[in-house]
Amino acid sequence: MATETSHAIDTMLLEERRYPPPEEFARQANAKPDIYDESFDAFWEREGRERVTWFEPFSKLYEWEPPYAKFFLGGTLNVCFNCVDRHVEAGKGSKVAYHWEGEPDGDRREITYADLLKDVVRFANALKKIGVKKGTPVAIYMGMVPELAVAMLACTRIGAPHTVVFGGFSADSLSGRMNDMKCEVLITQDEAWRRGSTVPLKKTADEAMAAAPGVKHCVVLRRTGNDVAMQDGRDHWLHELEDGMSDDPSSCPCEPMDSEDLLFLMYTSGTTAKPKGIIHTTAGYLVGTSTTHHYIFDLKRDEDVYWCAADIGWITGHSYIVYGPLCNQATSVMYEGTPDFPDKDRWWDIVERYKVTILYTAPTAIRSHMKWGPEYAQRHDLASLRLLGSVGEPINPEAWVWYREHIGGDRTPIVDTWWQTETGMIMITPLPGITTLKPGSATRPFPGVDAAAYDERGNEVGSGGGGYLVLKRPWPSMLRGIFGDDQRYRDTYWSKYEDVYFAGDGARIDQDGDFWLLGRVDDVMNVSGHRISTIEVESALVDHQDVAEAAVCSRADATTGEAIVAYVTLKGGRDGSVEKLEELRNHVAKKIGAIAKPANIVFTPELPKTRSGKIMRRLLRDVANQRQLGDTTTLADPTVVEEIKSRAESEQSGDEG
Ligand code: PRX
Repeated sequence: MATETSHAIDTMLLEERRYPPPEEFARQANAKPDIYDESFDAFWEREGRERVTWFEPFSKLYEWEPPYAKFFLGGTLNVCFNCVDRHVEAGKGSKVAYHWEGEPDGDRREITYADLLKDVVRFANALKKIGVKKGTPVAIYMGMVPELAVAMLACTRIGAPHTVVFGGFSADSLSGRMNDMKCEVLITQDEAWRRGSTVPLKKTADEAMAAAPGVKHCVVLRRTGNDVAMQDGRDHWLHELEDGMSDDPSSCPCEPMDSEDLLFLMYTSGTTAKPKGIIHTTAGYLVGTSTTHHYIFDLKRDEDVYWCAADIGWITGHSYIVYGPLCNQATSVMYEGTPDFPDKDRWWDIVERYKVTILYTAPTAIRSHMKWGPEYAQRHDLASLRLLGSVGEPINPEAWVWYREHIGGDRTPIVDTWWQTETGMIMITPLPGITTLKPGSATRPFPGVDAAAYDERGNEVGSGGGGYLVLKRPWPSMLRGIFGDDQRYRDTYWSKYEDVYFAGDGARIDQDGDFWLLGRVDDVMNVSGHRISTIEVESALVDHQDVAEAAVCSRADATTGEAIVAYVTLKGGRDGSVEKLEELRNHVAKKIGAIAKPANIVFTPELPKTRSGKIMRRLLRDVANQRQLGDTTTLADPTVVEEIKSRAESEQSGDEG
């Protein structure tokens, strides 16, 4: 039975560690405290005029006809020009844009802005040769190779909208996206390297194209050099298409685009329904990503070596490996492979070798490194790091502290950045040099962002309360809808509350006004009328010295409505025991309260995750409730749930709490 409270989600976990900004960092920071005092209009007007170069300046900052926004109206610009050409024209051609590190040993390339310009022009000319022009929809299905960024930039140079499909997706996922966007061209590669073996991208692309007859041309990069089937007339080797093509920018001028022209679609999967094609347009997206990148990562373009260790196939890679950093003339690292190949210190080897100063990654990666142990990081000199970032899931306080101590030398600030595919840019985040950090809190809305937590009835919950995260005013890089589905756009984001964007996440706001993200609202559990978020119980478990990772969900319970079930991975691959189980239950009771004590704990070597590393609690719920498993196609490794199922069945341990 649910009790009536004004808090949509109850929160009980208290985290009291504080990390004020180091003085030295504050002195040199890009963001100064008065950044929060500027008005929305003044802030974005200035960033819009100064951060990008316009062919035709905009005449109006924005227009808001809920639920659709437009930004920088009347302006024309080109994304490729802003990311590449203008830096070369400014005499910065010899600056490194990407230190690219292939997965095979010693496979490295240094790509300057001048190189990038030549590569993009040649690529764009090749695309034009097969008929790509302004408005032609192009799909890109590649691994983390420089040509992926080049392909995206070539599309933007011509004004062809793209959709990048992560290289781990199946033929069905690829064809579904290509059909939805009506793609006419697909850019792929023979194979990708992954953990020492190859991923057959072209072969999968062939299956996808068989189900996507609108695709008339396929451009193939040679990466591994192994044999792949090529269909005459449809498939073209990139190097053959590029043969004899000019790399002079004047041979392929940057197309002037309207601020609101479609830049790309990024598909995000719901739990079971068809993926949504999230629409991002040109100017608002570029201004939003470059502005946030500048302030949040404190980028000093001539000094920093910046590394976002995500995949370009996700929004994080679009915004913070390609468009934001290049627009800001950053020097970045791009890495092709996995963190544990050939050994678990690969990342730290990269940090040391390129003297990386800023590292941006996800909690799932941090927890993997925790599980493997700090000795891999200790083999390397990580003193160059001055700022760390996290994105993708709530970060457990213990993982946050581990990251700071073992990677950041107990000196670097950490920016825990909350945002979504739909928001395009970071929305809630500390600003390094200003914000006092709290492990597990994304702290404050970025300047100009108006975020709040609402209860069921649409009232703002006061400080200390938990509720549903909403965004109360539009922002430059917000989605412009779901491609071809206005109704779904309205239903998903704009129907729970009127004219307010519903993010689908829970959030608590503390006494200082800092935001604590509580995960997806579908993951909230109701135990004896208390609405408890999974992340709090998970964080209490990860707080225990032996726990590397935990995922929590609920199962039906006759007495309490729902009872908490925890899936736990112990550090160093250790096995669980009955004693350990009791110890962990008591640990949760101590950290949060007896109400949050898991009724069952299942020990497991791995947790089920999506391909982008998010824990799939939905499937754990199915296991806990002994139901047939729901859609498993978004799982990175389908064998993991089977393993967990058999463990859950054999253990069935723990009495009711
Ligand atoms: O639930 C939130 C979680 O990731 C969701 C967005 O996922 P996606 O569209 O794949 O974009 C990921 C990269 C921006 C959000 O609704 N999320 C993302 N960052 C955080 C987070 N949850 C808590 N804290 C974060 N820093």
